[in-house]
Amino acid sequence: MTVIRDGNVIKFQGQYRDADLHAPLACLHHAVNDYGYKDVVLDFSACTETYPGPMLALCSEVLRLRSEMVDAQLVLPDKPELARLFQNANWAHLLEPRAFDASRFRGHTQIPATQFTNPTEQYEAVNRIVNAILGGIPDIRRENFAALEWAVNELTDNVIVHSQSHVGGLVQVSSFKRTSKIVEFTIADSGLGIPATLRSGGDFAGSDTTALDRAIREGVTRDRSVGQGNGLYGSYQICCHSGGALQIESGHARLLYRPDPHGLEIRAQKVPVKGTLVIAKINFSDPDLLKDALKFSGKSHKPVDYIETKYEGDHDNIIHVALANEAQSFGSRVAGTPIHVKLHNLVQMCPGQPIEIDFSGVPLVSSSFADEVFGKLFVKLGPLEFMQRIRFKNMEQTVRMLIDKAISQRVSTGLGN
Ligand SMILES: Nc1ncnc2c1ncn2[C@@H]1O[C@H](COP(=O)(O)OP(=O)(O)OP(=O)(O)O)[C@@H](O)[C@H]1O
Ligand SMILES: [Mg+2]
Repeated sequence: MTVIRDGNVIKFQGQYRDADLHAPLACLHHAVNDYGYKDVVLDFSACTETYPGPMLALCSEVLRLRSEMVDAQLVLPDKPELARLFQNANWAHLLEPRAFDASRFRGHTQIPATQFTNPTEQYEAVNRIVNAILGGIPDIRRENFAALEWAVNELTDNVIVHSQSHVGGLVQVSSFKRTSKIVEFTIADSGLGIPATLRSGGDFAGSDTTALDRAIREGVTRDRSVGQGNGLYGSYQICCHSGGALQIESGHARLLYRPDPHGLEIRAQKVPVKGTLVIAKINFSDPDLLKDALKFSGKSHKPVDYIETKYEGDHDNIIHVALANEAQSFGSRVAGTPIHVKLHNLVQMCPGQPIEIDFSGVPLVSSSFADEVFGKLFVKLGPLEFMQRIRFKNMEQTVRMLIDKAISQRVSTGLGN
């Protein structure tokens, strides 16, 4: 990739990948700090390819600059599908909110970049992410789901607890495709950075590269009264054990873990990342790999997960699903797909637990929705398992008839695909 600065215009040409993220940060620094520009133009017209990692590093820096009264203007890529990605992933809005609305992308294959500035927003962002994954990735194991939720939660928590970023953090989840089982999530902040906070503790005075090396070790924290030093260590373990990858950029250092034959590399960087960027890839293809990835002081750790907090009741072993909260519409196949995937995941993740679907507030569903969710689930599970595991509550007569009919029709045609 080439990044060229011409006055206050920064031009992106070709591919802008995970390894290229420093060049535009250097250009921004020159334009603003050396030449005193109060507005910059980010011209992506000739950009052909880009990824969440470098984009969030840039968005995060632009948010920081905006809080210091430096304005940015965005020129979208000429390539139509890339321009669409800029809007769907919410990058366009983060870079120039006056010109581009927040992403309304409601698909279930990625979660647009979301800004969080306090613990409530962080909690909501994490919930939105794990909910989308539960409805977006079929056949996910509960241990794997819990590990992913744990890591997203820890990495976003670090932004709130340590970074002192004035604009909070950004989190984006991408690339869960039907064919590959790698989930990539990216977290960026424009705060103090890992080396600086580790040094602030007083026990550490090494270089930025040593700081990153230390930060992923068990028990390394800037302050024992605040943390235990589990977050980065556990996230690193999850990424490694699963055959995924981890990239951390902070200050003048880059930590990169890739599966064999690469392994772990830590390098000094000329251009600093002001703040912290974490790109984590978790690979779910081998269901057993993550079983014992989370171990603290030698003991396996079973984190509380979204399924437990959202769906499991306190007094019974029933999984409670309030259908009204699961979708904005019950009229289409598209609206049904994530609910189907979620129910099927719940059936497999919680063996022996009945799933009770509460229809309160859902007076009507369309036949295609009923087929997508219940017809197909019936065929996948088979009649006995479906009837043992799935229960209905507060269902209107018409809805009952529609679902009944959808199931009978689906049984006669089979899953097809
Ligand atoms: N986003 C960040 N910004 C600045 N410093 C960070 C950030 N993330 C991590 N750190 C630094 O790295 C150290 C290690 O982080 P880690 O998450 O492993 O442990 P912790 O947050 O201190 O404890 P725990 O995660 O167990 O609550 C932190 O103490 C902090 O100094
Ligand atoms: Mg932490």
